Amino acid sequence: MSRNSLITACFLAACLLSGCGGDGTNGAAGAIKIGLSIPTQREERWVRDLEQLRAEAGKLGVELLVKVSENDTDRQTAQCSELLDQGISVLILAPHESGAMSAVAEKAASKGVKVIAYDRLILNAHVDLYISFNSLKIGEMQARYLARLAPKGGYVVLAGAHTDHNAPLFRQGAMNVLKPLIERGDIRIVMDRPVPDWLPGAARDLVAEALASNGRNVQAVLAPNDGTAGGAIQALALYGLAGKVPVTGQDADAEAARRIIAGTQSMTVFKDTRQLASAAFGAAMNLASGGRAPSNATMPNGKMDVPSLLLETVAVDRNNLGKVLIDSGYLSRSAVYGAAEAAGR
Ligand code: BGC
Repeated sequence: MSRNSLITACFLAACLLSGCGGDGTNGAAGAIKIGLSIPTQREERWVRDLEQLRAEAGKLGVELLVKVSENDTDRQTAQCSELLDQGISVLILAPHESGAMSAVAEKAASKGVKVIAYDRLILNAHVDLYISFNSLKIGEMQARYLARLAPKGGYVVLAGAHTDHNAPLFRQGAMNVLKPLIERGDIRIVMDRPVPDWLPGAARDLVAEALASNGRNVQAVLAPNDGTAGGAIQALALYGLAGKVPVTGQDADAEAARRIIAGTQSMTVFKDTRQLASAAFGAAMNLASGGRAPSNATMPNGKMDVPSLLLETVAVDRNNLGKVLIDSGYLSRSAVYGAAEAAGR
């Protein structure tokens, strides 16, 4: 059993021992309501998170009230307020804007509702648990991969949305690796910009701008996730450079896996959202029954050191994609290779 599945199993075992579990349909768990607020359903990874969280709720017979804010802070604030008025015991909140949810978290605390910051930290507020991946390591994995493929030359460094607390962590991890290479004069940063709202179209425009102003002389693109990687690759394609300039990613989206097989995207970072969701759900059940949730780190959020559970990630390229993403059941063979080709394999 992997360390992460062990953590999940411990959550569930603790939950069952503490009497908050059920036989899947009724019992004590049936009385528990959990609120979930997530930022979007426009990106594959967030669709998977929601599917998994719904499945976890279904397994335990817990009522899960779901709100999707479509990257709108005011909407997310109003939706969380509604959830807090609906008698939930725990709010699982993935903030669109990490710095704008403190009032929501404080309102939760005043009502005795436990708050789990899901994937993205909530700043300047009491938070009971932060559950995510090791974001610094993700940036390091991306930059290390690029540095191997492009040890010298001009780099475009895209960062995630400035509203997302993860974005500077990914960037910092990447810069930890790139800084010595920059200081040695091996690589130079030709562009270093955040991508508003992580929008692929904005990433495309930024990379196109970098290519235009550097006479196509770009040797690597650090794209912080698969969505922005897709945009970056569109821009490279316009200049005949798709597949020639290494591009990173993150999330193991099916589309990114297809690009990795096609050779236009070099790698992605796999964050197993099944583990994230089931660990978060287990933690929510523990907190709902007055228990504690396991953690392996703390993260300062401006108000407190938030107990945190940070899961591990895997760098994936065409060499290990089949083993890590397909054999583990995260992506189907047909999602990666297309139905016809998958059938013939
Ligand atoms: C998540 C990434 C995701 C990005 C855009 C980040 O906070 O950690 O997995 O790609 O947001 O949604």
